[in-house]
Amino acid sequence: MTALQGKVTFVTGASSGLGAETAKLLSRQGATVFGIARDTARLAEVFADVEHGSYASVDVGSAPACKDAVEQCVQEFGGLDVLVNIAGKHQMRRTESMTDHDWTQDLAVNLNGPFYLCRAALPSLLERGGNIVNVASIAGVEGQAYSAGYCAAKHGLIGLTRALAVEYTADRLRVNAVCPGGMLTPQLEQFTAPEDPNYDLIMRTASPRGMMAPLDVANVVAFLASDAAAAIHGAVYRVDNGKGAG
Ligand SMILES: NC(=O)c1ccc[n+]([C@@H]2O[C@H](COP(=O)([O-])OP(=O)(O)OC[C@H]3O[C@@H](n4cnc5c(N)ncnc54)[C@H](O)[C@@H]3O)[C@@H](O)[C@H]2O)c1
Repeated sequence: MTALQGKVTFVTGASSGLGAETAKLLSRQGATVFGIARDTARLAEVFADVEHGSYASVDVGSAPACKDAVEQCVQEFGGLDVLVNIAGKHQMRRTESMTDHDWTQDLAVNLNGPFYLCRAALPSLLERGGNIVNVASIAGVEGQAYSAGYCAAKHGLIGLTRALAVEYTADRLRVNAVCPGGMLTPQLEQFTAPEDPNYDLIMRTASPRGMMAPLDVANVVAFLASDAAAAIHGAVYRVDNGKGAG
């Protein structure tokens, strides 16, 4: 019997980086995985390694699309035990040159999407005594330069996690957040600095122990999603390779 045997899990951002690694790990641990992301071709590649599950191309910034995706998962697999919000996007920009669209996009992907999915998934999760794992960032617990929208959204995601944890204290539901530090993923590989940046400020986010692999963080997500974490509710876990040690 593996940790997530028979559990139906819904993973966002499942086409790449941490989301792809988490989808494959949950599958190895016995879960059925319903994955969403933007890129169907990359989802198909990831799901070649997922034994039981399916996937769909969904924009998490759209509330109706999030609702439809949760309905599709519940219809296909008969219920939902775990929602893992991983989809995210981080683009560095100087705040004085950010457009309204930049700000709205930062919030749409990193904060609105997790809210839309939590709201849509709550009835099914409550019915099965399930749980939610929200992937924030160390940018959700500290400031990062050139990242006003991303930081605001990730701080908001931690607020959402804590608000749900309190609201559903008396119910059969757990809600937790994970705050990764730097992981080697396509998001980081495609990183672009704003014009004429202060690299000392950017390097403040780095761990002295270096970058993590996405699997380092996926292991913690899988643990929180499992019954082994039955007493963990409303927690905000830093997984940052020692960056926050002081
Ligand atoms: N890589 C890091 O160093 C790092 C550090 C801290 C936190 N994080 C967070 O971890 C999570 C995963 O990051 P990653 O590095 O694996 O990124 P990634 O770029 O490799 O993957 C991002 C995933 O999100 C999906 N996505 C983006 N916009 C979407 C949208 N509008 N609708 C649906 N899906 C969308 C993409 O399709 C992709 O599957 C993100 O929330 C990110 O903010 C990453």
